[in-house]
Amino acid sequence: MPLMKGGEGPARSDERIDFLFAVAREPMLILEPGETLSDSRITDCNQEALNLFGYRRASFVGLPLSRVEVPGAGGEAVPAEATSGEARYRRSDGQVLIVERTFQRVESDGRELLLVSMHDVTAARLLERAVVRVQQMDNLGMVSGTLVHDFRNLLVSVLANAELALAAPDDAEAVRERVEDIARSARRATELVDRVLPSSTGDQPLVPLDLDSVVDDAVELMRGSLPANITLERSVHEEPLPIAGDATQLRQVVMNLVINACEAIGDAPGTVRVGTGMVAASEVDLTGAYPPLSERAEQWVYLDVADSGAGVDSATRERIFEPLFTTKSDGTGLGLTAVQFAVRRHGGTVTLHSEPGEGSSFRILFPVDES
Ligand SMILES: Nc1ncnc2c1ncn2[C@@H]1O[C@H](COP(=O)(O)OP(=O)(O)OP(=O)(O)O)[C@@H](O)[C@H]1O
Ligand SMILES: [Mg+2]
Repeated sequence: MPLMKGGEGPARSDERIDFLFAVAREPMLILEPGETLSDSRITDCNQEALNLFGYRRASFVGLPLSRVEVPGAGGEAVPAEATSGEARYRRSDGQVLIVERTFQRVESDGRELLLVSMHDVTAARLLERAVVRVQQMDNLGMVSGTLVHDFRNLLVSVLANAELALAAPDDAEAVRERVEDIARSARRATELVDRVLPSSTGDQPLVPLDLDSVVDDAVELMRGSLPANITLERSVHEEPLPIAGDATQLRQVVMNLVINACEAIGDAPGTVRVGTGMVAASEVDLTGAYPPLSERAEQWVYLDVADSGAGVDSATRERIFEPLFTTKSDGTGLGLTAVQFAVRRHGGTVTLHSEPGEGSSFRILFPVDES
């Protein structure tokens, strides 16, 4: 971009940056380079960047880049020349952002700064991973082939639009239209997950079963493949725990919860406790239970999955069951969506107790099967 060539006087560079901010439809940041890229401080940005990251200007400008990076990033050198590549950041609500970014050295008031222009590819990348995940679930007989097919079509449309937008970066109007198309496809994909997942195993009827033995099966299936730093504790309940259930779907629930628990623990030693039992309605705290219940059983059968991991902050908690919501760089945000749909289908609900740094405890409640 010849506009940004340095050495033409500091005052003019600033005007040019202002001008660029005013005309650009893509998010842009100005960084003051630090020791590493993560140490570099955000000194200015345009409105699009504030929208993308979900911040107000006053709390965004001045932050080191590390504050919006996903955990584990960092250490990267400040790019010397114009470079581009893909990177992951975090919105103020914890959601992962995947962007294609381009760095450009600029000069302002005699200072060497970095101009970062960004292109949000989150929807496209998440859809790619969602397709893989849906295919894995398909292999397990969890979803119908139609969903995989529809998903793939949406993905093709997202990728085609992304390619077209990238091919004409200077045509702001064309880029905008493509991005709007991408957002539309992503929304449709979300609705699709919403609509299709609950009925995906609908052809397997709910039958009387003992939750304890289903959970045992799932735990034994997983035990061999858990990382060595994780201790999996299973507290067994002596009495049968009768519910009307779909064993395949319930095993999937256990697996999704245990996988999340392990991921929340990370590489440090930690414990995942899987417990089952029966509890009277009067002893259950249903504050914040999701989905809300239309009928309340007298007796509940519960499944607890508790971990000693990172815990959940309030921003994450608000969106935790949202399809495609993820704070992980390699997550799809479909794990708890699948859990939630399964639980809904079983007439149950989920409660979550968690504080940042103090682990999380998910409790799934199922109505007792009286038949
Ligand atoms: N046990 C937990 N401890 C802390 N945070 C959790 C826990 N379980 C879920 N979360 C949070 O909820 C988000 C959504 O979880 P979900 O299982 O739906 O998707 P994911 O784990 O990110 O992706 P995927 O399940 O596809 O790998 C996670 O990204 C994480 O931020
Ligand atoms: Mg998950």
